[in-house]
Amino acid sequence: MLLGVNIDHVATLRNARGTTYPSPLEAALTAETHGADYITLHLREDRRHIRDDDVAAIARTVRTHINLEMALTEEMLEHALRVRPQDVCIVPEKRQEITTEGGLDVIALQQKIADYTHQLTAAGIRVSLFIDPDETQIQAALDTGAPAIELHTGAYADAPAHERPRQLAKIEEAAYFASERGLTVNAGHGLNIHNVAPVAKILPIAELNIGHALIAQSLFLGLPAAIRQMKETIHRARNGV
Ligand code: PXP
Repeated sequence: MLLGVNIDHVATLRNARGTTYPSPLEAALTAETHGADYITLHLREDRRHIRDDDVAAIARTVRTHINLEMALTEEMLEHALRVRPQDVCIVPEKRQEITTEGGLDVIALQQKIADYTHQLTAAGIRVSLFIDPDETQIQAALDTGAPAIELHTGAYADAPAHERPRQLAKIEEAAYFASERGLTVNAGHGLNIHNVAPVAKILPIAELNIGHALIAQSLFLGLPAAIRQMKETIHRARNGV
């Protein structure tokens, strides 16, 4: 199971003071050195954290690869075609939200997603759709031609304890449903050291994208130790040890 480290909140902290530090590029390189399998970053339309020059510098410098999260807009499509990351994850975006709330409505946006996917795929970019664990959305995702999905784990992460098993079962069923139909299945959102293990045990899930909890934990442990702790937790869960 691969770990994508989302470094958006390093940029959030930098921007809060209008300084040049902490540097998202330095975070990306440190993350890679200490176990990140790739770097995830979200260029939001309002540029509230990651900026265009961050994407360019990180894409140019990383030794692994980047997974660029972006909204379904013409501007972002052009940006991705310029930068040519290995992966693009298409996410829904609302201006006022604190973070990505809910998955893409692939059913409503099917034609536009199929069109963007076609253009990105032609440029050699792997497209993933960030969706809720819902069979009708997965079926619609298949029809767009996207080779991968990322299951939104936010409902599971935010659920009260008594509700969590039901949310986890939804993720597990969706992961098997999608992988049996040939999709690569990733997952992420709201995962932390306390709730990641049950998700890591779901075998069809290939990659996890984790940001907020890792950057938060790095305040106390440092980024290298926070990533190591997360990798070990995932590895132990995955291998049943
Ligand atoms: N995956 C996607 C598609 C996201 O939009 C985000 C948040 O940017 C994450 C994963 C990471 O979520 P978190 O910061 O809660 O770990």
